[in-house]
Amino acid sequence: MHPVQVIAVTSGKGGVGKTNVSVNLACQLAKQGKRVLLMDADLGLANVDILLGLRPLRNLSHVLAGECSLRDVLVTGPFGVQVIPAASGIKQMAELTPTQHAQLVQAFGSLEDDFDVLVVDTAAGISDSVVTFSRASQHVLVVVTEEPTSLADAYGLIKVLNRDAGISRFKVVCNMVSSDLQARRIFERLCAVAERFLDVQLTFVGAIPRDEFLLKAVARQRTVSEMFPATESVQAFKRLADQVSAWPIPGEPRGHIEFFFERLLPVATREASMAW
Ligand SMILES: Nc1ncnc2c1ncn2[C@@H]1O[C@H](COP(=O)(O)OP(=O)(O)OP(=O)(O)O)[C@@H](O)[C@H]1O
Ligand SMILES: [Mg+2]
Repeated sequence: MHPVQVIAVTSGKGGVGKTNVSVNLACQLAKQGKRVLLMDADLGLANVDILLGLRPLRNLSHVLAGECSLRDVLVTGPFGVQVIPAASGIKQMAELTPTQHAQLVQAFGSLEDDFDVLVVDTAAGISDSVVTFSRASQHVLVVVTEEPTSLADAYGLIKVLNRDAGISRFKVVCNMVSSDLQARRIFERLCAVAERFLDVQLTFVGAIPRDEFLLKAVARQRTVSEMFPATESVQAFKRLADQVSAWPIPGEPRGHIEFFFERLLPVATREASMAW
């Protein structure tokens, strides 16, 4: 079995750049030779497809209906990144039959030799799905901006993930910054509150500048990594990917995609499946 790094990209507040960070981190990891799976876990709004200009025909709900295999659902994005499109089907995971559950976990297990990294782009807010995806991941990346509401919501998210999912280590990316110094200040503000009131450890992993070229790429439904590889934000995404690559390879059993999907499923279903 092949270990896989699973990274959930979160924020609390919406619109701070989770999807852009997820997509460009995935691109840069793929450019470095990693085999990357990118999952759009935003149940309400399919952001990844739109940013990448993809038009997926199928999603996980089709796998569950027995209409196609998991491999048929994957769409190839830039630099060979494989995308699992957003699926209303994920919501139905709470109501899976034991047979469907076993099928799905097995299907994801069959993918694991094909990938080194799974990047999960989560929804805004602190819904159950964000908690569940974060709990199932090995690394939780929190994206923040200088806006006070972003910091307050990031703190709220960290608090809930710590309390409800037992997560105590968080990696912080400061997005849309004007300088590295500003990024450090944002990080220190978040740290000062989080580490004072919660038993958590925050690590600064990157500063992504506000970049008009990123917006130009978004407007054309392409990634800035493809369109403007020399621009500042892409250099920053590259450095972020370098950091991620240096994270230790997870040990068993946390480092397996199969484990990730096992953890996505509610306990009741899991128990039923074991009985089955
Ligand atoms: N570094 C950046 N420089 C300039 N604009 C940016 C940057 N990062 C994100 N944006 C812009 O901010 C907006 C929100 O970005 P994005 O969709 O990635 O956020 P999100 O956190 O995924 O949002 P949501 O919570 O709705 O899923 C987009 O218009 C995007 O192009
Ligand atoms: Mg998004």
